[in-house]
Amino acid sequence: MKFNNINVHISPLAKIGKNVKIGDNTIIYDNVEIGDDSIVCNNCVIGEPLNSYYSNDNYTNPITVIGKNSLIRSHTIIYAGSRFGHHFMTGHTVIIREETIMGAHCSVGTLCDIEGYVTFGNYCRLHSYVNIGQHSKLGNFVFVYPYVNFTNDPHPPSTICVGPTIGDFSQIAAHAVLLPGAQVGKNCLVGVNTTVVNDVPDGSVVSGNPGKIVGRTAWIRSKEEGKENTSYYPWIYNFDRGMPWKGIGYDKWVEDGSKI
Ligand SMILES: CC(C)(COP(=O)(O)OP(=O)(O)OC[C@H]1O[C@@H](n2cnc3c(N)ncnc32)[C@H](O)[C@@H]1OP(=O)(O)O)[C@@H](O)C(=O)NCCC(=O)NCCS
Repeated sequence: MKFNNINVHISPLAKIGKNVKIGDNTIIYDNVEIGDDSIVCNNCVIGEPLNSYYSNDNYTNPITVIGKNSLIRSHTIIYAGSRFGHHFMTGHTVIIREETIMGAHCSVGTLCDIEGYVTFGNYCRLHSYVNIGQHSKLGNFVFVYPYVNFTNDPHPPSTICVGPTIGDFSQIAAHAVLLPGAQVGKNCLVGVNTTVVNDVPDGSVVSGNPGKIVGRTAWIRSKEEGKENTSYYPWIYNFDRGMPWKGIGYDKWVEDGSKI
């Protein structure tokens, strides 16, 4: 497949790296920087101007950075003032608002809505249909499964905006809701349909509505053939698809300097 470069608009103030491919009907606004070897597919908007663009004649678009080797799939809209590390990836019809900061190797699934002013570490994965409210913070290797909601207004409508915080390696299962300011520690598992009301200590499994600590992740047995009597968590020792420790194991990766 080749892009035909039909109806593509690239601001002269944008910096486009080497070997970047840009699809049809895509708009790249002022002060966008796209790293080398990236692909922006059809019908995308990168560096969408903020509200003041429409009322302020002296508006300057904030800098938007897409790291090298990124793949932005069709109908993704990324607002100005967001920054993504290398190997960033989106699915289709993704909306990412301003001041979204992500490390390297993050991916955002189809139909996700990230409301801006959020920070993600490296290797975070949002599956499809995830909603991340403003001022949420995700650590490294946090995976979020479909239809999860991160809320931030404790008693709507109000002007309070306090997002949830999720520690490294934690997994947030499908349809979970995180209440404003919820603090989930490291290596936790938030079960399907859980409403996280209180803070969740490191290594816990939380489940139900309201969410209760029902155990430790270390107590969960593997369902993989031949491993039934072993603990599945920490998952870093049992899962390596797309992970930087693939083929060498987590401990060796750390020993070698945790390169991303
Ligand atoms: C209903 C709501 C306002 C209650 O908040 P609150 O009054 O601060 O409640 P508290 O944190 O004082 O908790 C009181 C009790 O109710 C429980 N509880 C609180 N929210 C709960 C919920 N949504 N579901 C089940 N139980 C809940 C708490 O566990 C606590 O139980 P306990 O007394 O046994 O410990 C809050 O849960 C809520 O839904 N906030 C809105 C979030 C939202 O969607 N904002 C808009 C989108 S950003």
